[in-house]
Amino acid sequence: MLIKTQRLTRIYFSGKIQVTALKDVSLELGEGVFVAVCGVSGSGKSTLLNLLGGLDTPTSGTIEVEGCKISDLDRRGLALYRRFSVGIIFQSFNLIPSFRPLRTSNSRSCSPACPDGKDEEGLRT
Ligand SMILES: Nc1ncnc2c1ncn2[C@@H]1O[C@H](COP(=O)(O)OP(=O)(O)O)[C@@H](O)[C@H]1O
Ligand SMILES: [Mg+2]
Repeated sequence: MLIKTQRLTRIYFSGKIQVTALKDVSLELGEGVFVAVCGVSGSGKSTLLNLLGGLDTPTSGTIEVEGCKISDLDRRGLALYRRFSVGIIFQSFNLIPSFRPLRTSNSRSCSPACPDGKDEEGLRT
């Protein structure tokens, strides 16, 4: 199985308010399948993709990708996972306004696995 989640739950805590964005989501996706996640606004699509993409960590439950339990990875492990194992196209550009595009993509703040975070000259937004 390429991607497997078990009882994936993500609760956001903002002050006294708790929002359960995902509750006990278990799914299995095989290699080579094309999947669309559908649901009304606020149903947890972005939350699920953020977890599968290694941008966020679950409150409980597990995520395995190619047998690797990414829900157990630390910050650096997740950065390496994002860098080498997964591609994410964001809904918005997510560029850092004061950086040129390559600086954004190489930035340590975006990718702690980046060896030096050096800028590439000559590219402007
Ligand atoms: N950072 C956050 N803090 C608090 N609540 C959040 C946060 N992100 C999302 N939510 C809430 O979690 C629920 C699921 O949101 P989201 O995953 O963005 O849904 P979708 O992408 O399907 O529109 C919504 O109720 C949303 O308001
Ligand atoms: Mg969304």
